[in-house]
Amino acid sequence: MSTVIMNKDKNVSNHHQKLTLAKFKPKQKIVYQTNNLNLWYDDVHALKNINLSIGHQEVTAIIGPSGCGKSSFLKTLNRMVELVPGVRITGDITYSGKNILSKSFSVEELRTQVGMVFQKPNPFPKSIYENIAYGPKIHGIRNKKILNEIVEHSLRRAYLWDDVKDRLKQNAYDLSGGQQQRLCIARCLAINPDVILMDEPTSALDPNSTLQIEELIKDLKKEYSIVIVTHNMQQAARISDKTAFFLHGEVIEYDQTNLIFSNPVDKRTSDYINGDFG
Ligand SMILES: Nc1ncnc2c1ncn2[C@@H]1O[C@H](COP(=O)(O)OP(=O)(O)O)[C@@H](O)[C@H]1O
Ligand SMILES: [Mg+2]
Repeated sequence: MSTVIMNKDKNVSNHHQKLTLAKFKPKQKIVYQTNNLNLWYDDVHALKNINLSIGHQEVTAIIGPSGCGKSSFLKTLNRMVELVPGVRITGDITYSGKNILSKSFSVEELRTQVGMVFQKPNPFPKSIYENIAYGPKIHGIRNKKILNEIVEHSLRRAYLWDDVKDRLKQNAYDLSGGQQQRLCIARCLAINPDVILMDEPTSALDPNSTLQIEELIKDLKKEYSIVIVTHNMQQAARISDKTAFFLHGEVIEYDQTNLIFSNPVDKRTSDYINGDFG
């Protein structure tokens, strides 16, 4: 009986190793490439001919006024946007060289490699521990010791371990907004993704929590590729390597962040970053 359990544990352990170590990490410098990507919600043309490359282990900031398609773009990258009735997409998106819009591509696989963090922290109504262990459990990890390790590692990585290590059984809703957002980031990290998509992750947070998340993002890009939508120009300038300026569903300008902010080519970009509209 104990042999069976040991073997089973070994299998789980192997499974986890496979999940965390041997999982495909993109070697190329480009993690996402979109080609003539268009998206409609019924007759609203929300994304127009988007041609963008998202760099590996870089922070890419998406800026632009409300309604210009930033969230739609992010939700297209992980194929969440398809959940909206009446959506139509043309063009293509490659992720690690694979066409993610093709019928044969597995959305489940994509979800294990691309995590998402939203504007409002959205922890599950469960304990701090269960919030982090949830994803790994879905992926078949049952071994308590391994789960404990993943929980601790993910919380440490998100700068949250010291805050919560003595109260892992407490409900996640007891945490402050900034802590909840770091918990949501830790929850992403627990599935060991390649890419983290963040949709205005600090706009509901106070300045101090915002800075903590920014520090965390700068640290995480050593291992992950991050795409962040932000309304905060200073934030884009502080943390991103590249910036794309969206307007009415189009990419007006896309370049190194320092160039976009110091020497934009298009007048609409300089108007926006100088606060002249939006
Ligand atoms: N679920 C939806 N159904 C219909 N239209 C939508 C939906 N989500 C967004 N849109 C429309 O698509 C456009 C882009 O929206 P969105 O991507 O949310 O912009 P942003 O994030 O830049 O504010 C807007 O015109 C918006 O009204
Ligand atoms: Mg949005």
